[in-house]
Amino acid sequence: MTATKIRARIAGTGLYVPPKVLKNQDLEQFMDTSDEWIRQRSGIEERHVIEGGIATSDLAVESARIALAEANCTPESIDLIIVATLSPDHQFPGVSAVLQHKLGLETTPSMDLRCQCSGFIYSLNVAKLFIEAGQYKRVLVVGAEAHSPLLDWTTRGRDVAVLFGDGSGSVVLEATEDNVGVSSVVLHSQGQFADRLWVEKPGTSKGVWLTEEDRQAGRMFPFMEGRYVFKHAVERLTQVVKEVLEKEGLSIDAIDHFLFHQANIRINEKVAELLSIPSYKVHSNIQKYGNCSAASIPMLLDETIRAGKIARGQTILMAAFGAGFTWAGAIVRY
Ligand code: COA
Repeated sequence: MTATKIRARIAGTGLYVPPKVLKNQDLEQFMDTSDEWIRQRSGIEERHVIEGGIATSDLAVESARIALAEANCTPESIDLIIVATLSPDHQFPGVSAVLQHKLGLETTPSMDLRCQCSGFIYSLNVAKLFIEAGQYKRVLVVGAEAHSPLLDWTTRGRDVAVLFGDGSGSVVLEATEDNVGVSSVVLHSQGQFADRLWVEKPGTSKGVWLTEEDRQAGRMFPFMEGRYVFKHAVERLTQVVKEVLEKEGLSIDAIDHFLFHQANIRINEKVAELLSIPSYKVHSNIQKYGNCSAASIPMLLDETIRAGKIARGQTILMAAFGAGFTWAGAIVRY
């Protein structure tokens, strides 16, 4: 008798964004930019930002609670918490530990996973493997980011600041014997390009955490070689879609929904064009939220499900690219 395969199904999802909205026009107060430039180059119209002492873990707990309610389960029934983020509350410990406490839990294991914009797909893979191995039955996976306090809101930082937003998305994964859930996953990274998209400081490189000279040079703000990143993002996303389809033995036609990382609408349009993916299958919410890094895909997943566009039994392909460089793809049967 062959043992039944355990899989990791999506039991519930949640999205949370802080209430304050910054429209493109609002940014004109702080820097030399325009609504037209931002819309044309990225597709972004507005983003949500935190205020009043709110931190990444506060965003995380809100989307987590929604996902838990949707999955019809309590925080106590969670066996493991994984948080993907590049904007933690503190240098250490991770957001996952703070979130665990905010959910009222005592000793539930928790871990942060730092793979920037690919972090949610990496986390999904880790959660899937824990569940398939039988170690845990229910895992909470959260992507949460509070970028706004970390950005340079002056003209010097405009090429990056206008692109990002704050928010969180959560997914409860649970064990099932049904033929659904997270299926093939492909992960990649290429540290050769770390300095093309990074926050160089504060950090232990060169032995000094943050010097006055680092501060003057703005090394604590994100730096991005925009065009270089754009080109790589299109190339790697296109490759990873093909790779994960091949691993699963499926063609583009068999996929009902494509959820790409929300960095720039033009990147995703180009990928869809190169792969001849019909535009109605490619979802986006970057217009309202900007790039929310590790939170973008779970936020888009929740929103697309809630809008009634994704039905149980349908097949989703997720793909992301980000700093590292890292990139990843996953096929999920909802
Ligand atoms: N408002 C107005 N002008 C701006 C601006 C802003 N917010 N940011 C940059 N500019 C200016 C530049 O200074 C430049 O001016 P110049 O021609 O006088 O030198 C001009 O606009 C064009 O800049 P460029 O960087 O060449 O624009 P672009 O068409 O490459 O678009 C990005 C810029 C950032 C939107 C685009 O490169 C991109 O999306 N890159 C990848 C983003 C990404 O994927 N990031 C994260 C992965 S997770």
